[in-house]
Amino acid sequence: MLRTAASLARLGTESAFEVLARAQKLAAQGRDIINLGIGQPDFRTPEHIVEAGVKALRDGHHGYTPANGILALREAVAADLHRRHGVEVNPDLIVVVPGGKPTMFFSVLMFGEPGAEIMYPNPGFPIYESIINYSGAKAVPIALEEESGFAFSADAVLARITPATRLIIINSPANPTGGVTPKAEIDRLVAGLADHPHVAVLSDEIYSQMLYEGRAHVSLLQYPEIRDRVILLDGWSKTYAMTGWRLGYGVWPEALVDAAIRLCINDHSCVNAATQHAGIAALTGPQDAVAEMVAAFDERRRVIVPELNQIPGFRCVEPGGAFYAFPNITATGLSARAAQDRFLAEAGVATIAGTSFGAWGEGYLRFSYASSIDAIREAIRRIKACL
Ligand SMILES: Cc1ncc(COP(=O)(O)O)c(C=O)c1O
Repeated sequence: MLRTAASLARLGTESAFEVLARAQKLAAQGRDIINLGIGQPDFRTPEHIVEAGVKALRDGHHGYTPANGILALREAVAADLHRRHGVEVNPDLIVVVPGGKPTMFFSVLMFGEPGAEIMYPNPGFPIYESIINYSGAKAVPIALEEESGFAFSADAVLARITPATRLIIINSPANPTGGVTPKAEIDRLVAGLADHPHVAVLSDEIYSQMLYEGRAHVSLLQYPEIRDRVILLDGWSKTYAMTGWRLGYGVWPEALVDAAIRLCINDHSCVNAATQHAGIAALTGPQDAVAEMVAAFDERRRVIVPELNQIPGFRCVEPGGAFYAFPNITATGLSARAAQDRFLAEAGVATIAGTSFGAWGEGYLRFSYASSIDAIREAIRRIKACL
């Protein structure tokens, strides 16, 4: 009998990958599957970015890079943050990592241990709760509600801070709800944090460029009063359709950046060099493809939400960002998990049960609308027929 660490049993997972595997298995058996489960753009990475990666390989960028990333890439990130958020960021505080996930893993590893409390959105990206539990810290949910468009309430967050709270994780625009927290609420959270100087914030802004109807992104970096305790998570996966390249970054407070780099050295040494060169091309090249993708998602959003609202028993609030719709399905009489399994098995439509994103997701299903309008319409038709 192998004697693994007890913490291993506390590690959760991201069911989107399990549903993807089941959907692919059904497709391999000849079933016609529409996949609205996985959260990734259905576009190719723009050609000039691919070319930069290929060129880097041809030019001989085959070795290790600095653990925190090539300086030119970190400078490009700093320039991009200035362009988008109007903030000055020292490239030495930027740590390039393989995707969005390592920054959240490292943040929780830095603060989480038995006796500590970490707050996280629920329903939210499932890895937050998983790694908090893994660290031994207490996972304290920030309940997100349909009534407020799944924005968080600053008062509710502040009310749950205790002397044991070390880190608060926020995510706007959000997965799985598409919720966007208004600036006024973020202002109130930041003001309230003045009374809790021991609390750090991880702001997951991976969907920061996917906002609709004229909404402007509010970055936690824009609040100088908490800059010394904000960790920003962002990356290329969603914005540039680069999920498989594995490229993301954290902007760290000065007090934590060395620890973040040490975690990189212990974990993966550095990000693949060619990928980093592609990342430079993404940030410094034309941004038209980003605008085109966001426009396409917006068009699909305007199709899927009214369509979902026409399914008997479904009720869907308007998502303000990301590429997810999160309808309430309680009136169908099905649990989230039963609906997910039934729609996949009987209608050939992959969606993700709300409970995959935490207990507060019961009664909801996540639809990723990073799929063609025809596929979306056909999926809804099949679900209606199945019900
Ligand atoms: C909110 C959120 N943060 C982070 C990530 C991780 O992104 P990456 O694939 O770059 O690790 C995702 C991916 O779905 C996400 O939805």
